[in-house]
Amino acid sequence: MDSLLQQLGHVSAVIGAQWGDEGKGKAIDILSGHFDVIARACGGANAGHTIVVGGKKHVFHLLPAGSLHEGKTVILGSGMVIHLPTLLEEIALLRKNDIDIIPRLLLSDEAHIVFDYQKEVDAVMEERRSQKSGGKIGTTKRGIGPAYMEKAARTGMRLGDLHRFFRDGGDLRSELAWRNGFVGALFSVSLNVEQEARNLEDAYEILKDCIRPLPSLLDVMEGRRILIEGAQASLLDIDHGTYPYVTSSATTVAGALQGLGLAPRLLSSCIGVAKAYCTRVGSGTFLTEAKGDADNRLRERGGEYGATTGRPRRCGWLYIPDLVFSARLNGFTNWNITKLDVLDEEDIIPVGMGEENGKVRYEELPGWKKSTVGITSFDKLPENAQHFLQFIETKTGVPVSLIGTGPGREQMIIK
Ligand code: IMP
Repeated sequence: MDSLLQQLGHVSAVIGAQWGDEGKGKAIDILSGHFDVIARACGGANAGHTIVVGGKKHVFHLLPAGSLHEGKTVILGSGMVIHLPTLLEEIALLRKNDIDIIPRLLLSDEAHIVFDYQKEVDAVMEERRSQKSGGKIGTTKRGIGPAYMEKAARTGMRLGDLHRFFRDGGDLRSELAWRNGFVGALFSVSLNVEQEARNLEDAYEILKDCIRPLPSLLDVMEGRRILIEGAQASLLDIDHGTYPYVTSSATTVAGALQGLGLAPRLLSSCIGVAKAYCTRVGSGTFLTEAKGDADNRLRERGGEYGATTGRPRRCGWLYIPDLVFSARLNGFTNWNITKLDVLDEEDIIPVGMGEENGKVRYEELPGWKKSTVGITSFDKLPENAQHFLQFIETKTGVPVSLIGTGPGREQMIIK
């Protein structure tokens, strides 16, 4: 671990290399203890990670997976879109378990607010998309697209605006009434002005001291060890992903740095996280998607159901060109390959190598047919499992440093 930490340096990012749900939370959990600041930069409550609090599993959407580590400063950065009632629920859940995160929670005043009406707009837009060829995106319906749309249209509301309404006497209701006319005209959706106002008031009451201008967040981060927790993943990036079947934020490390206002030269390492196979929720291309038996096997062994929506994930095999692409986009310094054990019973493991005449060309690697669950040292892995991981290293040019061998915190090989 010490030599890995030395390699990672002061500012490290953990970024998904596929279509999300790679299991970034576990690496974050293991590494968080060694950093001072845990920061989320982009996205919103479309993310979902399971955290065990008070012996029970809970799904968190906004607070980073590293939040439970006592004494760590938690930052939600400027690139995020935040549904305040969801954030309050997560804070309340922690408080019920005697964890008061407020004194160490910092929210950029540049982050945008997600309103309830934007979730409705999300649903209306999905319905409209279903009427055209190409169909729905399969969004999480958390209002992410509409919130970023308003950000880009410069009609969004930011956390810093709450000071204007609740501290400086601004007229919130007339602002919301204007918004009502605006979304009504565009989407035939109407705002529940009183409910939206109450959501903001309740949130401000609890969060007012957490909302800070970016320069003060940069002061907090100055010279400290920062772990950046990526959300969604590279192939869902608004620019470089499989558009239009993507999310609405920049999900690469460049997006994360922009979302936090951190200068790129401060980054010392970037861990790419990929499953030993591949999954996707929502629509869009998935060249190596498995069919029939294999699809079901991977889903059942891997527990592949969406944390945010409960939807069954589409399952398939690794596609090396995607890993190479993600590694280039993000400059991965290390791989975390997760859920190796899910492949334990496969006879052969197909790995997509590229396309020829419109068909995926596979290389078939021999399976290992032995349990790898809970193995913590690379040398103890079956030879074919070692070979599989070395194959990923060779084909992508990035060393595999962390290998997940089960859901537990300790079920990880650190190489
Ligand atoms: P949206 O981000 O809710 O607009 O959804 C756009 C696409 O991104 C859909 O295919 C979602 O399933 C996918 N997506 C968004 N967030 C996540 C995530 O955290 N994990 C996996 N897929 C996600």
